Amino acid sequence: MPGFGNHFSTEAILGALPIGRNSPQHVPFGLYTEQLSGTAFTAPRTESRRSWLYRLRPTASHAPFRPYDRNLLIRTAPFDEVPPTPNRLRWDPLPLPAGPIDFIDGLITFGGNGDVASATGMAVHLYAANRSMDRRAFMNADGELLIVPQQGRLLITTELGPLEVGPLEIALIPRGLRFSVDLPDGTVRGYICENYGIPFRLPDLGPIGSNGLASPRDFEAPAAAYEDRDEPTELVQKFQGRLWSTMLDHSPFDVVAWHGNLAPFRYDLRRFNTINTVSFDHPDPSIFTVLTAPSEIAGAANCDFVIFPPRWMVAEATFRPPWFHRNVMSEYMGLILGSYDAKAAGFVPGGGSLHNQMSGHGPDRVSYQTGITADLQPQRIDDMMAFMFESRLVIRPTRFATETPLAQSDYDVCWVGFPKAEVPA
Ligand SMILES: [Fe+2]
Repeated sequence: MPGFGNHFSTEAILGALPIGRNSPQHVPFGLYTEQLSGTAFTAPRTESRRSWLYRLRPTASHAPFRPYDRNLLIRTAPFDEVPPTPNRLRWDPLPLPAGPIDFIDGLITFGGNGDVASATGMAVHLYAANRSMDRRAFMNADGELLIVPQQGRLLITTELGPLEVGPLEIALIPRGLRFSVDLPDGTVRGYICENYGIPFRLPDLGPIGSNGLASPRDFEAPAAAYEDRDEPTELVQKFQGRLWSTMLDHSPFDVVAWHGNLAPFRYDLRRFNTINTVSFDHPDPSIFTVLTAPSEIAGAANCDFVIFPPRWMVAEATFRPPWFHRNVMSEYMGLILGSYDAKAAGFVPGGGSLHNQMSGHGPDRVSYQTGITADLQPQRIDDMMAFMFESRLVIRPTRFATETPLAQSDYDVCWVGFPKAEVPA
């Protein structure tokens, strides 16, 4: 079922979805009614997100949650473990796990900003796992999760139905929605943006017009599917930064029908309609925005999700790679596939880099030299996909990100040795 922002209606059993009422006295088959809210009840209609779920048992029936301590590397804002460094940072990819580990325990936080208690900011997590979540489910009360697989497919079972995503696709899981991750390919690795703030949406298109960039119709929501399974299932939730766990005596994925506009989505990044210059100059990377999570300040996003997809480069008399810049926004970059046109080496698939507010960065020496000497014919950049989580707030690294041997201690060297420009005396 495609369509970001659409209102969906879906039932796994014919006749399960009430018609004409959200909460009728008598629900078909005696299903239990539940509203899941993604925005305040009184949010403007254009912002309002909620869905009505019809399920085998009420979600409310569960034992108390108790602290869960198996994941030691997940962190939540405010990020104050270590002083934030003004230095540019870059990391090698997470090693693939040696022992068995699933999606929950394989989450490692690299940094973030804001304050989860006041619903501002975002976090950058990476994951590496090799085991399906066997009779385990997860939910995040702290924000929505934008999952960017880099290696291996994820079969994400959600309360609203299944979504399968792999590299070059993304999944967006709303705040509070229960889900489980199975690994049909075995080992997986990828990136996650956790958004504590206003939910992601498609950016306005302005003068681009009514088409272009990511199209609403390409966001796929799942059809209703349910498990009628009376087996012990552990439910782990993240609440105000801590993990908690409780045992259910049944599968939490027991929603037989649902309707509404709050839904998880899958999006194939290869469907992005890339817009760029056909004359000269290198536009700001905001031209590649897939989704944006706004803040209360117009135009200054809590987080933008931006991609650098395969595309034609045709700019005339232009330095085509990204220019040197210092940005008031802060940029975490990852690489899904191939290589990025501002870095000849060191930035590899699965790795990441962080260029925080006002830190000077841009092409490395080799990329710069290539850029100023290239014979500017139309050129296609292919077989690559980079992305950026860009935030108006400084992305403060965690202790793990600061101290891990994955951090490249020689990153600054890529900007050493630029010859001085010679101006007439
Ligand atoms: Fe940048």
